[in-house]
Amino acid sequence: MITVRALILVTATVAAAGLGAAFIPTAPATAFNALYAQNCAGCHGADGTGGAARGLVDAVYLATADDRVVRDVVARGVPQTAMPAFAETAGGALSDDQIDAIVQALRSRGADAGQSGALHPPPYAAVTPGEAVRGGEAFATFCARCHGADGRGGPGAGSIVDPAYLTLVSDQSLRTTIIAGRPDLGAPDWRGNVPGRPMSDRDVSDIVVWLAARRVP
Ligand code: HEC
Ligand code: HEC
Repeated sequence: MITVRALILVTATVAAAGLGAAFIPTAPATAFNALYAQNCAGCHGADGTGGAARGLVDAVYLATADDRVVRDVVARGVPQTAMPAFAETAGGALSDDQIDAIVQALRSRGADAGQSGALHPPPYAAVTPGEAVRGGEAFATFCARCHGADGRGGPGAGSIVDPAYLTLVSDQSLRTTIIAGRPDLGAPDWRGNVPGRPMSDRDVSDIVVWLAARRVP
């Protein structure tokens, strides 16, 4: 069964196909608004606060993801997902200077949106390797009240264990969602699942392994 979530991603992919080819440099070629509107807005939202894909102008996201991480994703894309590679060296349409301009502008706009430096979310990449049994326990603690005991949907949110969804998202994207939430969709960040009990690096790692195990191989 194709879920609504999967359809949104697929639709966004189709809508964005050809964006690279349609990119026409404006003066100056590194102007953020034009670059973002032409290349990113279709999936990440017109104002950078989220569309089918997460918002990037987001203080919590930018507190966990440093510039190198953001730059690498934009340059190389995320294989097997809808996130394209934009670097000319990877067949994309953006020069190194243009990618740098996007990363810098996201950083400064994200800083305007909140005090990223004071947030201290769990690290972007797992420090402690995840473990599925612990992940099931952590899921019951932090996620089940909204997504249901088995993750198939509950009173507060939809299914996140649907194979059609899990095959379209990377493990990192699941980790990023748990850490930074989806404020545009009402999904809490790492502090908000159980009030007063922020998630640890290990909690996040364990749940990602538990979710990833639900992908159809
Ligand atoms: C066709 C849709 C699409 C377009 C266009 C697109 N993205 Fe993405 N982007 C995605 C998806 C989907 C993901 C999540 C991929 C995954 O599962 O890891 C993503 C992930 C990302 C991430 C990593 C998020 C994380 O978890 O750390 C960054 C950074 C990013 N995109 C930046 C951009 C920028 C900047 C542009 C424009 C230059 C852009 N994207 C254009 C769909 C898109
Ligand atoms: C307070 C309720 C609530 C809690 C607790 C919660 N979520 Fe969510 N979550 C949401 C809502 C609302 C959405 C967006 C709407 C939907 O998907 O139904 C969402 C969406 C998601 C998505 C999909 C994001 C996307 O890009 O489409 C993932 C993955 C997710 N949550 C994982 C988790 C995990 C893992 C936990 C536990 C660590 C968790 N959530 C805890 C409410 C919650």
